[in-house]
Amino acid sequence: MATAATPSAPDGAPAPEPVPKQTKQTVDPYNVTGEVGADGVVKAIDYNKLVDEFGTKKIDDELLARFERVTGKRPHHFLRRGIVFSHRDFETILDRYEKGEPFFLYTGRGPSSDSVHVGHTVPFEFTKWLQDTFDVPLIIMLTDDEKYLFSEKKTIEEVQGYCASNVKDIIAIGFDPAKTFIFSDFDFVGGAFYRNIVRLSKHITLNQARAIFGFNESTNIGRIHFGSIQGATSWASSFPHIFGEDEKQTVGIPALIPCAIDQDPYFRMTRDVSARLKFQGKPYAKPALIHSLFLPALQGPGTKMSASIDESAIFMRDTPNQIKNKINKYAFSGGKVSVEEHRQFGGDTSVDVAYQYLRFFLEDDDELERIRISYENGEMLTGELKAICIRELQKYVAGFQERRAKVDDETVKLFMERRPLQWRGNPKAPVV
Ligand code: TRP
Repeated sequence: MATAATPSAPDGAPAPEPVPKQTKQTVDPYNVTGEVGADGVVKAIDYNKLVDEFGTKKIDDELLARFERVTGKRPHHFLRRGIVFSHRDFETILDRYEKGEPFFLYTGRGPSSDSVHVGHTVPFEFTKWLQDTFDVPLIIMLTDDEKYLFSEKKTIEEVQGYCASNVKDIIAIGFDPAKTFIFSDFDFVGGAFYRNIVRLSKHITLNQARAIFGFNESTNIGRIHFGSIQGATSWASSFPHIFGEDEKQTVGIPALIPCAIDQDPYFRMTRDVSARLKFQGKPYAKPALIHSLFLPALQGPGTKMSASIDESAIFMRDTPNQIKNKINKYAFSGGKVSVEEHRQFGGDTSVDVAYQYLRFFLEDDDELERIRISYENGEMLTGELKAICIRELQKYVAGFQERRAKVDDETVKLFMERRPLQWRGNPKAPVV
């Protein structure tokens, strides 16, 4: 509980510590920031360091070649460009796909606000592509409980409201309702899912939770327990309406979890417990993971976009004009201070936010390469680069808004109903 030294919010959650001037890089589910140097400047996030620290594997050309052989599909541009850059056991998922053995996709979102931005949609775009590629069930978890437990002021009613609108945003990405189940924790916890939550929680000690998440004596106990809820969604046996009642079968079906790398701690923990658990002699499948990096904030590559800072992000509700103004006004430029200098030395694409966004949103490799060369050799100026970025983002956001306008309450009900799903491993499931 909060003490006098830690001022408490109305619901008793401790207030965040003030950020010290010079800090190391921090990436966990609750904080993402690059190293702050002695000069107070935030550096870009060092993703290679995360791969080492977390003990994940980098996605290399060999794995991508195998992916293409097995699926017959060219790797998504996020994979080709290292935006989805790291994994755990992705090979074993490819093995299963090759042999026609079942697995499923699992991802999620914490409904912390109504303002979904392009940084939120990136992992979902990739998840949709995986669903189209593998033709397997997809489970999308909305952690309304997490956002209540981890915020200082939000009420349960507020996060439930965000949840209702976020579901529509997620559906607007274009998921196939016959293969997708979306749920909110407040509504869905119970039954087989709750049994798995408790099973998982029994195998995590307070010491482990502290080491993984950095909790302390003032952390509310809901936060300490929450990881078992996010973790238990990785187990197919939590969803008998999709995978069947026979737990001896379902404990062996692994999840493939596409997520931003900050979510890895939850699943590292779940993998450790899976390795130690058996159901009537049958081992639990460890979830596999495929990690993406963050879309940088407009201010530069040291932080991610924030839903609560309007100038940091391009929101899915922004008008074409707002997008244009934000990019022109705030997007950190790798260009030189004067046109003369820029013509002579060229721009730095590695820190230029407009260029970085194009790596996410411009699919055409040849065009992207032409832009890179032209900007780096000083031919293309910052204003021109920004204009291309504005055009691509306006296109992307407009496409989303068009689909979002068509998502009604009936569609939401369809996605959130407990029902069997259809996929290649289960052709007999009823068509929805
Ligand atoms: N904790 C995530 C968030 O705050 C939501 C989430 C739940 C999630 N399960 C997940 C994200 C699985 C990625 C994969 O946004």
